[in-house]
Amino acid sequence: MSEGFQLDAEGKITAATSFLMIHHALRRDAARFPHALAALNPHDTEQARRLAGHWKLYHWALADHSENEDDSLFPLVTSRAGELAPAMAELEEDHADLDRELEEITRQMERLPEAGAIEAARAATERLQAHLDRHLAQEEKHIVPVLVDRVRPEEIAGGQGGGGRGQGGGPGGGPQGPGGAQDGDGDAYQPPTWLISAWTDEGLDPAVTDAALAALPPKFREQMGPALAGWRADYHRLVGEVWRDVPAELAPKAP
Ligand SMILES: [Fe+2]
Repeated sequence: MSEGFQLDAEGKITAATSFLMIHHALRRDAARFPHALAALNPHDTEQARRLAGHWKLYHWALADHSENEDDSLFPLVTSRAGELAPAMAELEEDHADLDRELEEITRQMERLPEAGAIEAARAATERLQAHLDRHLAQEEKHIVPVLVDRVRPEEIAGGQGGGGRGQGGGPGGGPQGPGGAQDGDGDAYQPPTWLISAWTDEGLDPAVTDAALAALPPKFREQMGPALAGWRADYHRLVGEVWRDVPAELAPKAP
């Protein structure tokens, strides 16, 4: 499995590893939402609240990843492989379509558990999953070879998602409890670092997480390394409830 994350021959990260880690997490949860929504009981306001809360994290993660790509990663790729400029422009346009889908799903998630909203959100997340599968496959086809062959890992600022705000900075405090972690409103929403880290890590080959950790600046590595086991345990409790109704093969595994 770690081969898919483009670790090098010594098991160290390449410039493609963090990009592929985020893609793994985006695909993983995109596959879960339609199932979880199909199973949602219109009278279960508690589960509706959990799903809407986790959607807020997902919306943030995908929008942030796309923004980082537009601002940092695509220009970097184009600077090393000019022939990819048209493909990067197409992918940037596709981000606008993905953003519109995210906004529409958020509108439905905010109405849960109204019966009409459940079906609308389920159908919209199913469309998003298919769209995202195509989008990420295109990105990986074009971008991974350039990152592996022509970019050094330290050129990917911020570590995850192509650099930029949010994803991949250093640790910024521990878990605030599952409820508090998903509070926030509108554009101001910014998940805490422990939650982003545990979300990115879920289901990864430990060799990939270990390699990513080893590549962090010492200050962050020393804070994050010892904290990660606790973050994973808190995250597992949180998502065990969020994803309680998805098929077993898609359910989170204990860390
Ligand atoms: Fe993208």
